[in-house]
Amino acid sequence: MASLKTILFLGVCLSDWIVITAEQNFGPKVENVRWLSLDFKTILTWTVPKSNHTYHVLFWDQDPEWEESEECSQVSDLECDLSNHLMPFDRTYTADIQTIPDTMSYDPDELPHTFSPSFNPYKESNISAMQFTVEEVDEKTVTVNITDTLTSVHFGEKQLTIRDIFKKDLKYKISYYKSGSTGKRDILSDSSIAEVSGLDPGQSYCFMVAAYITSRTKPLKQGAWSQHWCMEGYRNFLQGLSVGAWVGGIFIFLTVLVLISTVTVLCYRRNKQRYETTQTSQTSGPI
Ligand SMILES: *[C@@H]1O[C@H](CO)[C@@H](O)[C@H](O)[C@H]1NC(C)=O
Ligand SMILES: *[C@@H]1O[C@H](CO)[C@@H](O)[C@H](O)[C@H]1NC(C)=O
Repeated sequence: MASLKTILFLGVCLSDWIVITAEQNFGPKVENVRWLSLDFKTILTWTVPKSNHTYHVLFWDQDPEWEESEECSQVSDLECDLSNHLMPFDRTYTADIQTIPDTMSYDPDELPHTFSPSFNPYKESNISAMQFTVEEVDEKTVTVNITDTLTSVHFGEKQLTIRDIFKKDLKYKISYYKSGSTGKRDILSDSSIAEVSGLDPGQSYCFMVAAYITSRTKPLKQGAWSQHWCMEGYRNFLQGLSVGAWVGGIFIFLTVLVLISTVTVLCYRRNKQRYETTQTSQTSGPI
């Protein structure tokens, strides 16, 4: 019974040792391969049980050949940026991450490797919240001016906007409500500049916008909602202020405070001096 235990124990040790030496030679396979993509900045990430290896990433769309990129060759991080390589955008890409062994010579076909899930940037890249301005045209109408967000993708010298990529497929959803009320109205605009009419005169309204890609499937159709922008009214005015506006306001306030203090101190010194001079001239004045 005891000898059987010893043999079993030895067997377990031996198989552990074989696994460990194999891992030392070839390195572990990577795990949890994920695509993270925001405004077409697309990063492939992975984890490893214990790191300090280098990794080599191959990617593939429908073409028969695997492709490589400079950014994703021999990387020692656990991620690499494929933003400028996943073109055309509307294709399904798969990546294969190989763990490069410490040994000098190896057969590339024998390397430990892990496939990524498939990913289509055009259909799946998340779209961030938009920046926009609202201008009052008259009592019942406003113009909403939305800035097409820049992507991470460059085409020659030009940095592409989401409009350059989606073209007519990009619409904007504008949602607005009377401030204080819960009823919202949505409109869909084809262009980045939209007119919202039929507002109740004298009422304060709040607006927010989101990108809306018509060809996508439901959960990925709509980008993130922007901040709310509200028309006048004390509470709404404060809500609508950005961090920049707050910092700017506080800065101006402090500057004014410093100015006032400086002027006060200067005036005080001057008056004191004048007072002392008068005193001196009085005491040493003619008899
Ligand atoms: C998009 O955003 C959602 C929600 O934050 C997240 O779960 C998902 O992984 C993101 N997709 C990509 C491709 O980054
Ligand atoms: C919209 O905003 C952009 C900058 O944010 C500006 O250059 C452009 O003139 C605006 N267009 C209109 C019609 O207000």
